[in-house]
Amino acid sequence: MNVGLKIMTVLVVGGGGREHAVCAAIKKSPKCTRLLCAPGNGGIAKIAECFPTVSATDVDAVVELAKRENVDYVAVTTDEALAAGTVDALEVVGIPAFGPRKNAAIIESSKAFSKALMKKYNIPTAKYEIFDERSAAVEYVKSQGAPIVVKADGLALGKGVVVAQTVDEAIEFIDELMLNGKFGASGAKVVIEEYLTGREVTALVLTDGKTLMPLPSSMDHKRVYDNDEGPNTGGMGAISPSPLYSREFADASFQRIFIPTMNALNAESRTFKGVIYFELMLTTDGPKVIEYNARFGDPETQAVLPLIKSDMLELMLSVTEERLSEMSLELTREASCCVVVASGGYPVKYDTGKKISGIDDTEALDAIVYHAGTKLIADGEYVTSGGRVLGVTCTAADLPTAIQRAYSAVEKISFDGMHYRKDIGRRIGSDDRRAI
Ligand SMILES: Nc1ncnc2c1ncn2[C@@H]1O[C@H](COP(=O)(O)OP(=O)(O)O)[C@@H](O)[C@H]1O
Ligand SMILES: [Mg+2]
Repeated sequence: MNVGLKIMTVLVVGGGGREHAVCAAIKKSPKCTRLLCAPGNGGIAKIAECFPTVSATDVDAVVELAKRENVDYVAVTTDEALAAGTVDALEVVGIPAFGPRKNAAIIESSKAFSKALMKKYNIPTAKYEIFDERSAAVEYVKSQGAPIVVKADGLALGKGVVVAQTVDEAIEFIDELMLNGKFGASGAKVVIEEYLTGREVTALVLTDGKTLMPLPSSMDHKRVYDNDEGPNTGGMGAISPSPLYSREFADASFQRIFIPTMNALNAESRTFKGVIYFELMLTTDGPKVIEYNARFGDPETQAVLPLIKSDMLELMLSVTEERLSEMSLELTREASCCVVVASGGYPVKYDTGKKISGIDDTEALDAIVYHAGTKLIADGEYVTSGGRVLGVTCTAADLPTAIQRAYSAVEKISFDGMHYRKDIGRRIGSDDRRAI
């Protein structure tokens, strides 16, 4: 392994807002002398050498690139790349990488696997049954009644779950998955689970399989419109830390969920090294796992990483080298808010190639503008190239100020059709704590 070197060439695999935030954090490390990103995007191109023709999910191409450019360390941050075994393939050629091997990334790529793991090791989660046959699934839904939650087993770009308010709605989704093959093999098996009530929190936890290091909590906003209305998206904004995640919930999550999950994966010979994204429901019975992801969240990462003062590259290396216990986490003790700016029509149908203006004007406001779907066409000139275009992030001493500053920065930006939620972080009222 070359990771003991004082200086290194680092490759980040991906090209969204999350990868821009990861690149920006790695770039700050004195240890990183050369930063590459595949495929990258318009904004990442300002801080890293991008390889737009190398797809994040093309394992062979990523390995080839890492070899050709003498890369010392790779950060694999997208779900599909991890599920495809990118970390394993890099290991084979002697290049260490941040992220779980395929056999541990399964905690995200198979919800059926995760639910069985949680059941076996008594990790709090919604009650459930797994079906690979339609009629049995339909019978079960009828016997349970609504509301009830139907999930495709495999990766489905965040569209594989329906929280059904009626039995008919649940059956309709079962049919889409199991009869119409909406998500192909991902939906051949379904998880049907109990509907939980409470508030959701994201906990990103670094682990090397021996030690756990929780990063600041966060909260995503999945629906496209204000007041959590409209279809689900990849995420329209995030705040960090979540005011709902009290010390009590954090302690309970650590003891009853984080430690048992790390131990369970070790016991199954699937040691997880990387960052586990615990999606938690804070219920009156304490925290329960909604699902695991095997990587940083998007856009949570854009809100969380600016709060970390520690050298992120050093933390990631310590995970890979199994010496996380030697590290400490230094935080700014601030709050942050990331507002996602999206293309008109997203998440359904949208145009690209719209000229973006005003990004430079946000500098005076100390905003960090993470690029998600942009293309650099000339120096300082960007056009849109995706559904989610930018993640505008501000930090401040308290959350209301961070939110207000992020929105001041968003208002400087414009492009044809641009839309964004106006209520990121604003739906947490003083009565919320009583609701959970
Ligand atoms: N058991 C449940 N009870 C209530 N809501 C749920 C439950 N499971 C999932 N959800 C809701 O559905 C969303 C998506 O489910 P999740 O399991 O996180 O799948 P994915 O993120 O892969 O689409 C969650 O963020 C949550 O809002
Ligand atoms: Mg989820």
